[in-house]
Amino acid sequence: MVNCGQVKEMPGEMQKQARVAPVFRLNERAVVYHGDCIDMLKGMPDRSMQLIVTSPPYNIGKAYEKKTKLADYIALQARVIKECERVLADSGSICWQVGNFVESGAIIPLDAVLYPLFADLNLVMRNRIVWHFEHGLHCSNRFSGRYETISWFTRKTKEYVFNLDPVRVPQKYPGKKYFKGPKTGQYSCNPLGKNPGDLWVVPNVKNNHVEKTEHPCQYPVELIERLVLSMTNEGDWVFDPFVGAGTSVIAAVLHNRRGAGAETEGEYAELAKSRIVEAMNGTLRTRPMSKPVHNPAEKGRKPAAAPRFGAESGVVAQTTLFRQVAR
Ligand SMILES: C[S@@+](CC[C@H](N)C(=O)[O-])C[C@H]1O[C@@H](n2cnc3c(N)ncnc32)[C@H](O)[C@@H]1O
Repeated sequence: MVNCGQVKEMPGEMQKQARVAPVFRLNERAVVYHGDCIDMLKGMPDRSMQLIVTSPPYNIGKAYEKKTKLADYIALQARVIKECERVLADSGSICWQVGNFVESGAIIPLDAVLYPLFADLNLVMRNRIVWHFEHGLHCSNRFSGRYETISWFTRKTKEYVFNLDPVRVPQKYPGKKYFKGPKTGQYSCNPLGKNPGDLWVVPNVKNNHVEKTEHPCQYPVELIERLVLSMTNEGDWVFDPFVGAGTSVIAAVLHNRRGAGAETEGEYAELAKSRIVEAMNGTLRTRPMSKPVHNPAEKGRKPAAAPRFGAESGVVAQTTLFRQVAR
């Protein structure tokens, strides 16, 4: 498959340069455009991006967005998605990471609402990845939201890039072998690890996360690293139309890919640039992909007893729940 106009080599000299360009050019290594993504996209060649990954505004009234009618939001997303499809490489992928739009207490899953926009452009959904995390608002009139999704689309082709080996995870029973039959002694599982599946448990970026900045809704670098490693090769372009604090570009440059993104807010564009430079220089602290998720039960930590929950109250105390989890 041909990626039109794509410069793939990453010359040694260029790898050393920690420079973030303000305007898109194919021979750059990293670009942060301060402005509207539609304007940036106009300057990008057809079929040049191997991975387009983003978390767009959810239209929930965050500081950087103006809450609009759902129909207007969808129309705006449609314009961006159409331009993204134009710049998508033949073997490329689009990953759209979203949560819910909430109106008068009713939740509307944005992946379901946006799906037709991708399908209308003849894109094929390869996975709907559920990203599960533990931290967030505690709801009192519905269950607290603890997942968002990543909708992964490619063109209608079997030739899309999908590298499973770099993102395999440890087997449940590593080193398991056949104990009878013609394959006795051979591995019954892939010794490189297993397919991570489509449910990803990755901590979200809250106050005590090592990657936390002043941006109100960063996604974690490790979430995007898995997409970069599986859907691109070295030297390929990764593009994020709503780049925020620069996470997608960081995940790209950490793995010797090129990264570009647009950001309307000057403060976040500057933040993205400085984090990307740190990533290029090897000084940015990120949570490693291989780090296990914190499990207090496994670590033998004891939660503080909740005094108001006595046996007589009929309410299950936290300590009881904790013992159940640990069993
Ligand atoms: C959900 S945040 C993305 C956060 C990002 N994934 C990260 O990890 O930092 C969406 C970002 O898109 C920016 N934005 C909103 N509309 C935009 C537009 N039309 N073009 C470019 N950026 C935009 C917002 O300012 C915000 O920083």
